[in-house]
Amino acid sequence: MDLSGKKMLIGVCGSIAAYKIALLVRLLVKEEAEVKVVMTASAQEFITPLTLSVLSKNPVLSEFTKENNGGWHNHVELGAWADVYLVAPATANTLGKMANGICDNFLLAVYLSAKCPVYFAPAMDLDMYNHPSTQASISKLEGYGNVLIPPEDGELASGLVGEGRMVEPEKLYEVLNTHLNRSVKKKSKVGTLAGKKVLVTAGPTYEAIDPVRFIGNHSSGKMGFALADALTRAGASVTLVSGPTSLKPANANIDLVSVVSAEDMLNACSERFPDQDIVIMSAAVADFTPVEVAHHKIKKNGAALSIELIPTVDILKELGSKKTKKQVLVGFALETENELEHAQEKLKKKNLDMIVLNSLNDKGAGFGGDQNKVTIIGRGNNIAEYKLKPKAAVAKDIVNAVSELI
Ligand code: CTP
Repeated sequence: MDLSGKKMLIGVCGSIAAYKIALLVRLLVKEEAEVKVVMTASAQEFITPLTLSVLSKNPVLSEFTKENNGGWHNHVELGAWADVYLVAPATANTLGKMANGICDNFLLAVYLSAKCPVYFAPAMDLDMYNHPSTQASISKLEGYGNVLIPPEDGELASGLVGEGRMVEPEKLYEVLNTHLNRSVKKKSKVGTLAGKKVLVTAGPTYEAIDPVRFIGNHSSGKMGFALADALTRAGASVTLVSGPTSLKPANANIDLVSVVSAEDMLNACSERFPDQDIVIMSAAVADFTPVEVAHHKIKKNGAALSIELIPTVDILKELGSKKTKKQVLVGFALETENELEHAQEKLKKKNLDMIVLNSLNDKGAGFGGDQNKVTIIGRGNNIAEYKLKPKAAVAKDIVNAVSELI
């Protein structure tokens, strides 16, 4: 592929994967791209500026100033020069700084000045990659329109095996090549779910007993909010119907509908259902509600108190009975025993296209926490088990699985 006249800027951070950049630069230069490289100080411990300047045929920059002569390197000009800026390998440290506007080296100043699309390819140990703070940085950067080139599962420098290994130079080359040869559309339009309308439910519902008390559950809403965010990034128009939670949608384009009880949630979903392409019910809807709500605070008088409960409408089942062939309906199942079997039963009983099983048996997963471990079951009984991950990463897995159904 001819890349003549294309201007590539590469920001190299301190990681063992830095050696792959030498090969990438060679591939790009071979196709006549103009390549300039900036490096952090720690990157130079892994690969020399000389190697990269010889291969790129351009000086490699790391410092703001030139040697003692009052001259300075213009990061603004460099940021404006590039057609695309790739930060690779991107370390947890640099990702955290990029996500938070920290500008204490030349590579970061160029990032903040860059007018072109920015891609970043993380490289780090699996635990560092899966740490909620790294995932939060990545989410934030994606939210700013930067593009993640996800690391692969594989052998890591630590000797561990898992997610965190930066992709090979050929893959980086392919991503850049595709980018440079494609007419650049607005990021929000290029996702796999572009143009799709998706309704997501999140959080608990509160069933009133009297004006001050309710029956609720421990759902935090984090999974549903993460899903709404991931769906928006995939290009979908998202309505988020949420029970009581303190969370705020991560993206201003998400249409938040706040509800309190299972009945409110049923009404909000039923009203909007005919317009939706996809519905994902991640809310922990109360299964029972008091028959009567006392008008005044119930006073204690020493005697035992019984509250009569009746079942709520199963919203998912109700939507499943009205679903058209074009609509995709996804449910969640929270099980504590015979998990797979019960989830498969719910998939059939509620006429779903997919069910996401989360189990409370996994430590660190489920209600309230920042992580989740899910198994996704499809209609053809295809079963995909995922490992324990931050909820933002789980949301991406679910969105990918839904996109495959569409
Ligand atoms: N659900 C719903 N309306 C209800 C109860 C549950 O739409 N009144 C949805 C949940 O949002 C979830 C799915 O049904 O997507 C499964 O919820 P879960 O609590 O796992 O199961 P239930 O169907 O309530 O059955 P059980 O509590 O007996 O396991």
